[in-house]
Amino acid sequence: MSSEKAKIREKSPSESHAEVIVRMFPSDANPAGNVFGGEILKHIDMVAGIVAQRHSQSNAVTVSMDSVNFLKPVFVGNVLTLNARINYVHNSSMEIEVKAEAEDIVTGIKTVTGTAFVTFVALDTNGKPTHAPKLALKTDEDRTKFEEGKLRMEKRLKNRQK
Ligand SMILES: CC(C)(COP(=O)(O)OP(=O)(O)OC[C@H]1O[C@@H](n2cnc3c(N)ncnc32)[C@H](O)[C@@H]1OP(=O)(O)O)[C@@H](O)C(=O)NCCC(=O)NCCS
Repeated sequence: MSSEKAKIREKSPSESHAEVIVRMFPSDANPAGNVFGGEILKHIDMVAGIVAQRHSQSNAVTVSMDSVNFLKPVFVGNVLTLNARINYVHNSSMEIEVKAEAEDIVTGIKTVTGTAFVTFVALDTNGKPTHAPKLALKTDEDRTKFEEGKLRMEKRLKNRQK
């Protein structure tokens, strides 16, 4: 494990929080107008990657996506807002939580349509895992999400396939 970033200060989850807003078009959907799950996953991965790279200030790659839930359909024309925050950091690995919300722009109704946890690994300039800054837990929510994230990461590593 490289330590290029080991001396970086701790950072709070709010420093790397990201929100991405995208409009859904016919090319994103099936003929009935339902947006493809894979299209939504692409945006989940992208916004989670912004959080991971903001936090680590290094390259970071996806190693796992889990608890992906498509709770409600997303339709062509909807405005999709993806909110992402970092919950947990181990050494190089970081758990990012993403919530997707679809807005019907005519009615203004907003619906939570999906959630996911994405694990990223910070990489050094040689492409090797490197330490990400530790999390500065500022709020009760930060502390709760950190503990929950830690438990999920332990489960993930138990099920990890090499
Ligand atoms: C990321 C990568 C360099 C890690 O290499 P590796 O040999 O698994 O490295 P390690 O075993 O040292 O693991 C590095 C970290 O990743 C974590 N990790 C690896 N696989 C994981 C998984 N499935 N779930 C959660 N964490 C995982 C390890 O726990 C470790 O975390 P820590 O540093 O916080 O303790 C390598 O898996 C890789 O290149 N994967 C492809 C990434 C990619 O291209 N993603 C885009 C989608 S295809």
